[in-house]
Amino acid sequence: MRTNQPRTIYLSEYQVPAFLVDHVDLRFELFEDGARVHSTLTIRRNPEFPDQGEALVLDGDSLVLESVRMNGEAVPENGYQLKGEQLLVPEVPDHFELTVVTWIEPQNNTRLEGLYKSSGMFCTQCEAEGFRCITFFPDRPDVMARFRTRIEADRAAYPVLLSNGNDVDRGELVDGRHFVTWEDPFPKPCYLFALVAGDLVEKRDTFHTCSGRDIDLRIYVESRNAQKCDHAMDSLKRSMRWDEEVYGREYDLDIFMIVAVDDFNMGAMENKGLNIFNSSCVLASPDTATDAAFQRIEAIVAHEYFHNWSGNRVTCRDWFQLSLKEGFTVFRDAEFSADMGSPTVKRIEDATLMRTAQFAEDAGPMAHPVRPASYMEISNFYTLTIYEKGAEVVRMIHTLLGPELFRKGSDLYFERHDGQAVTTDDFVRAMEDASGRDLGQFRRWYEQAGTPVLDVSDEYDADQGVYRLKVQQRIPDTPGQTDKQPQHIPFALGLLGADGADLPLALADGDTDVPASRVLELTEAEHTFEFHGLAERPVPSLLRGFSAPVRVHYPWTRDQLMFLASHDSDGFNRWDAGQRLAVDVIQALEGQADDGEVDARLIDAYRRLLNDATLDQALVAKMLNLPSLAYLIELAKEADVQALHRAREKVLTTLAGTLREDLLACYHRNDDSDDYQLTPEAIARRSLRNTALAWLLRIDDAEACDLARVQFDRASNMTDQMGALRALVNSGFAAERGEVLDGFYQRWQDDPQVVEQWFSVQAASTEAGHLGKIRALLTHPAFEWTNPNKVRSVIGAFAGQNLSEFHQDDASGYRFLAEQVRRLDDLNPQIAARLVAPLTRWRKFAPVYREGMKTALEMIRDKDGLSRDVYEVVHKSLA
Ligand code: PHE
Ligand code: ZN
Repeated sequence: MRTNQPRTIYLSEYQVPAFLVDHVDLRFELFEDGARVHSTLTIRRNPEFPDQGEALVLDGDSLVLESVRMNGEAVPENGYQLKGEQLLVPEVPDHFELTVVTWIEPQNNTRLEGLYKSSGMFCTQCEAEGFRCITFFPDRPDVMARFRTRIEADRAAYPVLLSNGNDVDRGELVDGRHFVTWEDPFPKPCYLFALVAGDLVEKRDTFHTCSGRDIDLRIYVESRNAQKCDHAMDSLKRSMRWDEEVYGREYDLDIFMIVAVDDFNMGAMENKGLNIFNSSCVLASPDTATDAAFQRIEAIVAHEYFHNWSGNRVTCRDWFQLSLKEGFTVFRDAEFSADMGSPTVKRIEDATLMRTAQFAEDAGPMAHPVRPASYMEISNFYTLTIYEKGAEVVRMIHTLLGPELFRKGSDLYFERHDGQAVTTDDFVRAMEDASGRDLGQFRRWYEQAGTPVLDVSDEYDADQGVYRLKVQQRIPDTPGQTDKQPQHIPFALGLLGADGADLPLALADGDTDVPASRVLELTEAEHTFEFHGLAERPVPSLLRGFSAPVRVHYPWTRDQLMFLASHDSDGFNRWDAGQRLAVDVIQALEGQADDGEVDARLIDAYRRLLNDATLDQALVAKMLNLPSLAYLIELAKEADVQALHRAREKVLTTLAGTLREDLLACYHRNDDSDDYQLTPEAIARRSLRNTALAWLLRIDDAEACDLARVQFDRASNMTDQMGALRALVNSGFAAERGEVLDGFYQRWQDDPQVVEQWFSVQAASTEAGHLGKIRALLTHPAFEWTNPNKVRSVIGAFAGQNLSEFHQDDASGYRFLAEQVRRLDDLNPQIAARLVAPLTRWRKFAPVYREGMKTALEMIRDKDGLSRDVYEVVHKSLA
């Protein structure tokens, strides 16, 4: 067992850097058995640092030091020290040049941090602290330098050599080697450094900026993927235009490059001018990628592009400020996606992610504020809280200020802090200064963890025509935080009259400014709002558009929910009312014997949805989805997974059985023989049709089985083929399931992105993903332990999506996960730590599950040489 506990880093201990680096000159000699890195840093003391006699300390990790020179002179071995992983030079002048040569082994780097090899190419990942795996450096984002990078490699194996900025020199070397030199004119933190060397094809385009410059756009991929770049390129051009139009941000370099790599820990990385993408987040063609993948790619391309301003031009002072760039950029990409597709659907997807996964995180042992106060391993803090809740916090500022003042605020932020490394507080201050609004209390959103709960109650005074709404807020305790202060919450609402129309919202008698929807501002623990001039008792539509990341409790009756689901003028709340109704029905059935009845009103609501062609079909497609098992678990006090699963299945199969004819009609009505189009309408058609098919196969309908087989064979796009495959895999037709799974694999085995989908459709399936099958997938020839996408598509999909199989009362699912985490911990600690997540919330589950989860965590804890990443997650979960 590990004896020394990793160190905790605190925000309160932040100090400015003792030394600044103005220039970095890098020379990489790339070979098959390793790489030599020559680094020359132009360094000066930071005049703002208190002790001007401080020693120079540079971070390192897994480096072999070959030599150190100061201003060109060799430093003898007693002139520096290697302390832990750091390089310490005690006596240094105020200005100097330090040259360090290190040797690293990218070919053996399975952590995928720093410089590593993926499918034969060299690539880098430096955020958050990967640059120290390349060379010794003050590896912190507030040290910003200009980089010049020369890459040398064998010309035949690595014809393409890339780094940040512009290529300024290239030429031949002896032994068939060649070099290219890159220069990035913008000072940047080292986490934005990137290098790529490989045998890649280039897909080119041009973007004409608002000021008339032509930007050279290039996507680099392995030649077999040359046909899968169009969508990313189009998405990139749309993103560039959108950022000009909506934020006034123009691209700043002459070249913008994207590279696809197969082995990547995350989705993508915003390195200056050279974004590196997980192949699955950039490559797409209609025959290999689903609609969901197309949309994800568009969003991620936009996200990384938007970072050029929100992240690169203005970056983070320290990693506690991570949400400064991530929350803001997620908000920006969400608005972009809303503009490109269906805004209501996008909002539903984001709110679903918040309510299922972020609320769970915020109620668990790893809960942390949007601006954390401490961490052990920063890689563990690329969380839903930093990204998604951080984006909701920015969205609330947008809501409170309105679009014009928000834009003034963002203009001021970019202008004031261009070229700087700043804090979330600087962001809020820019918003305050531009708008004149006081966001003092609002800052608690960055400081307090936990999801606020709003308890809402009401009364109607018929005599006076007054409706009173009482709203109480409380914020639950989280690890290390109790007795929280009320937060500033924008609370959007409307009131519906008996005819389903919005009633005017008069906050005082005789009020003339009476909108039909309004944003109330909650700042106290309790408020009572009075609405005047109401001739009838209204039905409240609360938290419209999910105007704040909070839980709302209000005792709606099922009839009221039915009413909202068909009348609310707010599309988001229509969907939400349907979800609440379904949740209520499922929860009521939980634990009841098999003869529990499914409320006929729910069936009616679904029948109407299926048959009403006048409704926005994209919204209908979303409304048809029952609340997920993950969400039901999140809502439970002590989740009994199997009981919830059975209740949900009962509702699903009852709906499918009762509505069989309607589902078949819906399937045929949405039969889509046109060319593949990516419009919201076409996406909604495919989604409706595949949902109908999936439901019919859950009741083992023979006619639907035939339809699915025909669709599987004839599909002209992956959405339909995968829709048919998934429906069959989740059905009881075992023979057909085996046949289509084999056929699919035979057809697509050479395409890793499709094989990943093939793995996950099985691993996530209650029917096909039993533990024995999961173990078999791990020994399948296409499975690779060193490839994060494969690991996620089997182990991650099983533990994260196949909840009824994972949560077995004999704890076999938990033990399985613990075994795999222990194995992965030695190969890739970041991936291992992420896989632990499903176990961390053991306290939330009914006793039969709880003990087994805890024991699995202890199994992981007791592994020898546990990584810092896994250590932090496991110890915090058991604390
Ligand atoms: N900064 C990346 C993004 O959100 C995510 C990332 C973090 C990628 C760490 C790799 C490593 O766009
Ligand atoms: Zn990001």
